[in-house]
Amino acid sequence: MCGIVAAAAGSNIVPILVEGLKKLEYRGYDSAGLAVTGAAQIERVRSVGRVAELEAAAAGTASPTGIAHTRWATHGVPSERNAHPHISGSIAVVHNGIIENYESLREELSAQGYVFTSDTDTETIAHLVEALLKDEPDLFRAVQRACRRLVGAYGIAVIDQRQPGKVVVAREGSPLLLGLGADGNYAASDASALLQVTRNMVYLENGDIAELTVSGVRIERLDGTPVERPVHVSQLSAAAVELGNFRHYMQKEIFEQPEALANTLEIVGGSRSIQPGIFGAEAGSLLQDVDHILILACGTSAHSGMTARYWLEAVAGVPCTVEIASEYRYRCSVANPRQLIVAISQSGETADTLAALRHAKSLGQLKTLAICNVPESAIVRESALRFITRAGPEIGVASTKAFTTQLAALFLLTLVVAKVRGRLDAAQESAYIDQLRHLPVAVNKVLTLESEIEGWARRFADKQHALFLGRGRHYPIALEGALKLKEISYIHAEAYPAGELKHGPLALVDASMPVISVAPNDELLEKLKSNLQEVRARGGELYVFADADSEIPASEGVHMLRLPEHYGLLSPILHVIPLQLLSYHAALVKGTDVDKPRNLAKSVTVE
Ligand code: M6R
Repeated sequence: MCGIVAAAAGSNIVPILVEGLKKLEYRGYDSAGLAVTGAAQIERVRSVGRVAELEAAAAGTASPTGIAHTRWATHGVPSERNAHPHISGSIAVVHNGIIENYESLREELSAQGYVFTSDTDTETIAHLVEALLKDEPDLFRAVQRACRRLVGAYGIAVIDQRQPGKVVVAREGSPLLLGLGADGNYAASDASALLQVTRNMVYLENGDIAELTVSGVRIERLDGTPVERPVHVSQLSAAAVELGNFRHYMQKEIFEQPEALANTLEIVGGSRSIQPGIFGAEAGSLLQDVDHILILACGTSAHSGMTARYWLEAVAGVPCTVEIASEYRYRCSVANPRQLIVAISQSGETADTLAALRHAKSLGQLKTLAICNVPESAIVRESALRFITRAGPEIGVASTKAFTTQLAALFLLTLVVAKVRGRLDAAQESAYIDQLRHLPVAVNKVLTLESEIEGWARRFADKQHALFLGRGRHYPIALEGALKLKEISYIHAEAYPAGELKHGPLALVDASMPVISVAPNDELLEKLKSNLQEVRARGGELYVFADADSEIPASEGVHMLRLPEHYGLLSPILHVIPLQLLSYHAALVKGTDVDKPRNLAKSVTVE
């Protein structure tokens, strides 16, 4: 969601803060700000909108110590007065997360005479630290004491004009890491912000507080116990977060899918069989007596789980339920210690998914597996088993390559569970592995359809609504297509299992309603064709994504695009790609901000 960058270095750090914010902007982006220790007082620059505006406004600012933030509004509208950093006396604070007890703190601090100038929960932290500094002049200790009073999730960075050269950071629930550089030390909410200065990263744990100066860092727990955290050398490639020749990150990430899939599937190597160990050393024993799988996820990740349900039940013969994480976490459910809990998340930091995972564990369900794109994330750290998709950093808010790599991981899970349950013979296993290996090539062929899809998108751009249809394992793909379209083009889109059409949504169909159908040549094609007839009979215009061998002729009002290869069980991985391209090009025609759609953030670390 929001992003933090902080630095204590030997020379002016403003360009580093700004560059770091640019790398984090995709996570949240309604306003931005920075504060540095100045000659006489804290110098603060804030602006509504993008980091580029902040950069222009901060042109004359320079200092070796500072903090910066890009905001996605939670408490208070996007405005300059609500943008971070927030100041109280000589200190400035930036904050990611939500302080749940901010109202009571605000009352307490107001009673002490502090005047609030914003609607944010963050400003309470600034005043609280300032108040504590009266008794405890050391910034590190004052922030430590302040954190003990905070309830909720936070990653914070604090500077004090009276203690220049020092930044104090702390985390509870929101990601925060330190970067150890040659000319100074840094902190950020995401490693990509610090690659410009260092690859040596220290991931803080919940309850850690750290002090950075030009010469070093020290870390303690909130209770004052000193701790050492290991230094990781980040393998993130700086090029992976550059746009290169593409117009948008979403476009780049759609076209990176062959490589992302190849990287994710590399774990299978040249082998003819898949071992449970790809999910973690204990996977073999842990999966042995699993009698049910419960998948927890949000948004696009939930759609990959919904697709996998068809695979897990059909191939592995294990019952599977998929639940939206924000529902599961607050529902009274019947615990089953033998069920495998699968948390799927691109970021690994989605607050609802993390809370659902913790809730599942609190009910005694300890067989947990994370399928995630970020190895150091909380969801990975808190799961017994893990599979890291190797999609590379996904910057566009609309998830694309994370989705297809999740599907690849979930198909591997299906094969492993099927094997453990004695439902997969060597010949079938080998055939599935061949299909998986060929996937990057098959995806590449689908990407060649881009120019035709662009043509379709031009016909869409003036529509108010669209309906997506699919059946069986392609129903979640229809859901994903509708989510992509509404998310970035703002066209209202709904997805239905095609058989459900006549139970209500058919009433919406007329000549102004484009109906997009996912129509691979599978066992449900004949049924789907009848549903498409129902649409045509009401004048609905059909856009059909079929396979080379789906026998559906194009005709008036029936536009056809045929995917080059028929891909059986794995066909959802191919069929989602034209839907990604369709929404991308519809958004381009409409002129929306493709990578940063309004009101959304990349990584939803608040409830
Ligand atoms: O990081 P996660 O996979 O946990 O994120 C879950 C959703 O917020 C995410 O998939 C969201 O729905 C995407 N913006 C959709 O494109």
